[in-house]
Amino acid sequence: MSEATKTATLTFDDKTFELPMHTPTAGPDVIDIRKLYAQAGVFTYDPGFTSTAACDSAITYIDGDAGVLLHRGYPIDQLAEKSHFLEVCYLLLYGELPTADQLEDFEHRVTQHTMIHEQMHNFFRGFRRDAHPMATMVGVVGAMSAFYHDSTDISDPWQREVASIRLIAKMPTIAAMAYKYSIGQPFVYPQNSLDYASNFLRMCFSVPAEDYVVNPILSRAMDRIFTLHADHEQNASTSTVRLASSSGANPFACIAAGIACLWGPAHGGANQAALEMLRQIGTPDRIPEFIARAKDKNDPFRLMGFGHRVYKNFDPRAKVMKKSADEVLELLGVENNPTLQVAKELEKVALEDSYFAEKKLYPNVDFYSGIILDAMGFPTAMFTPIFALARTVGWISQWKEQISDPQLKIGRPRQLYQGPTYRDYVDVENR
Ligand code: SDX
Repeated sequence: MSEATKTATLTFDDKTFELPMHTPTAGPDVIDIRKLYAQAGVFTYDPGFTSTAACDSAITYIDGDAGVLLHRGYPIDQLAEKSHFLEVCYLLLYGELPTADQLEDFEHRVTQHTMIHEQMHNFFRGFRRDAHPMATMVGVVGAMSAFYHDSTDISDPWQREVASIRLIAKMPTIAAMAYKYSIGQPFVYPQNSLDYASNFLRMCFSVPAEDYVVNPILSRAMDRIFTLHADHEQNASTSTVRLASSSGANPFACIAAGIACLWGPAHGGANQAALEMLRQIGTPDRIPEFIARAKDKNDPFRLMGFGHRVYKNFDPRAKVMKKSADEVLELLGVENNPTLQVAKELEKVALEDSYFAEKKLYPNVDFYSGIILDAMGFPTAMFTPIFALARTVGWISQWKEQISDPQLKIGRPRQLYQGPTYRDYVDVENR
């Protein structure tokens, strides 16, 4: 934590308090309220954390007004274009782009951990075949703490490192197994001669009955989707991982908590909901009906894949995703994909509508990703598991950063209590 650079003055009830302020390397100054309750006997109130910095971090920076996303200072559009997912993983985990030797060693370490314990296969068979793959992933990832006891001691830096590599390496295997189980096909073991994205595609789409050759267009698109979802500052699921890890819970349990939170349609579940919405709209002529519903305060319907807590300009990931959707669908010969046409027309109509302009609602990362994943052959139920697979490195990087903070305290928010004040118990015969 940087030293206080200036102070803020808080005055109420004829009392005045001086609060230290800190200046970040980028973004708004923060008012340090850690001693506010002790000094002034009051809490601050911010249920959605719209104005609250819950930690200090050096991993990812978002400028929501400028539509900028930086990972350790590098802009997402350059990383998506010039880097690849495992190199971005290294950058997020260790803070710098790797040398060729460092990258080779890192990729080798990840590759050596892609298989899961054979006995874990039994966990999948305990689920119904029609279980949502996110339910399976929450269960299986949480169960990893029952298998990998040699990497659950968070006080041991080496065990933290092994747990990090294991989770990054095994998430594609677990996600692919969840998919295979849901369609009644046999599990496919990882193939260490393949790169990370190609390995995932093969584990999802190959069958023992015939050879499978990875389409390089699809593996490049898959890798780019992983990169675009890798980390995103203190979003809901990352904050869940941080809060869980603040109690000292093991990394597998913390990541399982992050997967559970990501599942919600307001968060990572939006990519599935966005494609289902585009399919429900069906044709461009029905767009006005859905725009009207999205604007109707009495209708809970929202345009899925639109809006963001931080971005009040374009989500830079959505821009890259939209470009990638055009490329992939053209290369796959489905450039006239009706869902993509509806998405582009919906985006155009919404951005010309004053409601969305005034509320600064733009397409987010989830608006176009489902179109690419659908064209690649994934069912909508696999969209959020793929988001979770990619975000694991972000969760792990933020977890490692928090765990190594000597000032780490358990997260324990307070409340604005609105319930009954003290009253004595009343026996049932007197009620
Ligand atoms: C992700 O935090 C992250 O970084 C998340 C993420 C990541 O990488 O980790 O970026 C990934 O989760 C992206 C967001 C995916 N979710 C969706 O696409 C679901 C649809 N979007 C919304 O539910 C909403 O925009 C949120 C949840 C994303 C943001 O909600 P906020 O910041 O709490 O904003 P809000 O709900 O207070 O909305 C502000 C206003 C409201 O109108 P008023 O009450 O002020 O009149 O905008 C309206 C909302 O009704 N609004 C929408 C809308 N989103 C907000 N109206 C129609 N359609 C929408 N999509």
